[in-house]
Amino acid sequence: MSESNRANADIKSMKLYHHVDRVLTELRQMGKEDEGPLSVDELTPFDQLHYHGTEAVDYAVRATGVSASSSVLEIGSGLGGPARHIAATVGAQVTALELQSDQNQLASNLTARCGLTEKVTHTCGDFLTYNWVGQHFDVIVSWLALYHIPERDVLLKRCYGLLDQGGYLHAEDLYARVQFTDSERSELATELFANYLPDYESYCRDLERAGFELVSCQEMSDEWTAFTRERMAAFREQKSRHIDVHGEAVFASMDDFYDLVVRYFTAGKLGGIRFVARKV
Ligand SMILES: C[S@@+](CC[C@H](N)C(=O)[O-])C[C@H]1O[C@@H](n2cnc3c(N)ncnc32)[C@H](O)[C@@H]1O
Repeated sequence: MSESNRANADIKSMKLYHHVDRVLTELRQMGKEDEGPLSVDELTPFDQLHYHGTEAVDYAVRATGVSASSSVLEIGSGLGGPARHIAATVGAQVTALELQSDQNQLASNLTARCGLTEKVTHTCGDFLTYNWVGQHFDVIVSWLALYHIPERDVLLKRCYGLLDQGGYLHAEDLYARVQFTDSERSELATELFANYLPDYESYCRDLERAGFELVSCQEMSDEWTAFTRERMAAFREQKSRHIDVHGEAVFASMDDFYDLVVRYFTAGKLGGIRFVARKV
């Protein structure tokens, strides 16, 4: 098995990625067939796999000056929600790179149904090894994907090389607020597929060492603790609805995932970071 295929298989230890077609189940509930046109806005309640949905994406657009003429790369694009939102609201060309083939396939279908195939290019691959054959981008963005990727020095070197001079790298990501015990580290490696969780200072230092100028860096832990707690409470309030619509297995799997995230944020062990860095 290649490194990339192994990562693709291992990441399925994270329950958020178990039932990727729950978005299709939700669409059926809205009376939508599995084919046929969709609007980007109809999808946003289900296709933003990070915190604060399209608000976070709009922040990134403003912070990095993405415009209709920009070329944008999203690392770890999931179901394609952020990429479609950027293309639909700003008109930029977005390349959406996703490791998991089932997510990438579904993302690509959803984008086609939204009529955005000329603006969003879905690509399946591992960012650490993907061959970009000379491509360059104005902006690279990422939401809750970088902590999945080991070898931060390789990741940042690749980002630096792919950006034009003056280009921006923006991400929302996780970091470690404590020294994890062996059992916590092992739980996070399996349940969150966490492969790189430095402390806050090391996180910023890595960026500067890779040649980036740190334009802004924000502590998101309190906001994300509140967000994830509310998300879990809302999910549990609708327990019978979710079991009726998705079945017991999907409910249990999502509930476990939400619970784990809340536990680590609430205990002050897992932190959130949002940064904008510039290639100088
Ligand atoms: C939490 S999801 C977020 C998806 C999307 N950014 C969003 O906010 O809706 C993180 C995604 O990063 C992808 N990912 C993880 N490691 C990757 C890698 N090495 N290369 C490309 N994608 C990766 C995962 O498969 C997953 O779909």
